[in-house]
Amino acid sequence: MNNRILLLGGTGFVGRCIAHVLSARGYSVTVPTRRRERARDLLLLPTVEVVERDVHDAATLGGLCEGRDAVINAVGILQSRRGVPYGPDFARVHVELPKKVVAACRARGVGRIVHVSALKAASDGPSMYLRSKGDGEAAIRAGEPDIAATILQPSVIFGPGDSFLNLFAGLARVAPLLPLACPDARFQPVFVEDVARAAVDALGDAQSCGKTWQLCGPTVYTLRQLVEYVCRLSGLSRPVIGLSPGLSRLQAGMMELLPGGLMSRDNVDSMTLDNVCGACVQPDVWAPTALEAVAPGYIGRHVPREAYGSFRARAGR
Ligand SMILES: NC(=O)c1ccc[n+]([C@@H]2O[C@H](COP(=O)([O-])OP(=O)(O)OC[C@H]3O[C@@H](n4cnc5c(N)ncnc54)[C@H](OP(=O)(O)O)[C@@H]3O)[C@@H](O)[C@H]2O)c1
Repeated sequence: MNNRILLLGGTGFVGRCIAHVLSARGYSVTVPTRRRERARDLLLLPTVEVVERDVHDAATLGGLCEGRDAVINAVGILQSRRGVPYGPDFARVHVELPKKVVAACRARGVGRIVHVSALKAASDGPSMYLRSKGDGEAAIRAGEPDIAATILQPSVIFGPGDSFLNLFAGLARVAPLLPLACPDARFQPVFVEDVARAAVDALGDAQSCGKTWQLCGPTVYTLRQLVEYVCRLSGLSRPVIGLSPGLSRLQAGMMELLPGGLMSRDNVDSMTLDNVCGACVQPDVWAPTALEAVAPGYIGRHVPREAYGSFRARAGR
């Protein structure tokens, strides 16, 4: 069993959940973060250690990998400055960091990586996000066969504290109507706890080495259906006005000028591809949780934690 785990991105929405599953299964976990005070709830987990470190520094990352059995990488961002084939922020976080992780694993004899990517990641994808995720996957695969890797490709992820359904719930609270970019884009939302369980299951599953698991929920929805569902759960009657592709880009371009990174032209580019599985490659045991079983528990309810995201965005953190 791989007992000692370095969990990168363990303070995030997905990573936090992975940390809980790892801890519940008795793994010893180290979570590096840029700001330790943001991870106070993780400090309560008995087998989890949170340390303030710069994981982009090769020597620091090497030190973190020392004595580990496996690394789980759940570091990611949704917005970047622009660039070709992707902007510098995506390059640093989605491509350079995985390269450094592989180099550090190689140098310290760590033979196992579980890497959280994204559905439709591809080096020739339609958006900077998807292209950088594709190149990140290639960087992880370049470590094989010495470093056995499982790559997870989730569709959009929901759960308490998500930034997807909660974004639209927040907009519905303040706007009398919702002009919606890419209303016909299709998603197959997957529950954050299912993603976390898959990440931890992969660690103990030799069959998952070399595989890419596509993680999707049981149902496909258009973006319009999801937003209308969020409005219903919130008890708000809000007309949803679907925008044409041209207006979607225009709206996203204007939103890029606002603080908080709500939406970008790059997000619109990502949504030109359906975010759904065809013939999915999934874990052997995969019984995904329905959105309707979870979302009513946190959308339309006052969950104080959910306000933190907007506070942080306003403070530029
Ligand atoms: N959420 C979704 O719907 C979704 C869907 C598909 C794929 N994914 C992928 O799943 C992974 C996790 O996403 P998430 O939603 O959990 O993201 P998140 O909540 O924004 O968390 C991001 C994590 O990455 C770390 N991080 C961010 N920028 C960093 C930087 N410049 N340097 C070092 N660490 C940095 C953060 O650590 P600190 O701030 O503590 O340092 C945090 O732990 C990402 O790879 C994402 O692309 C997410």
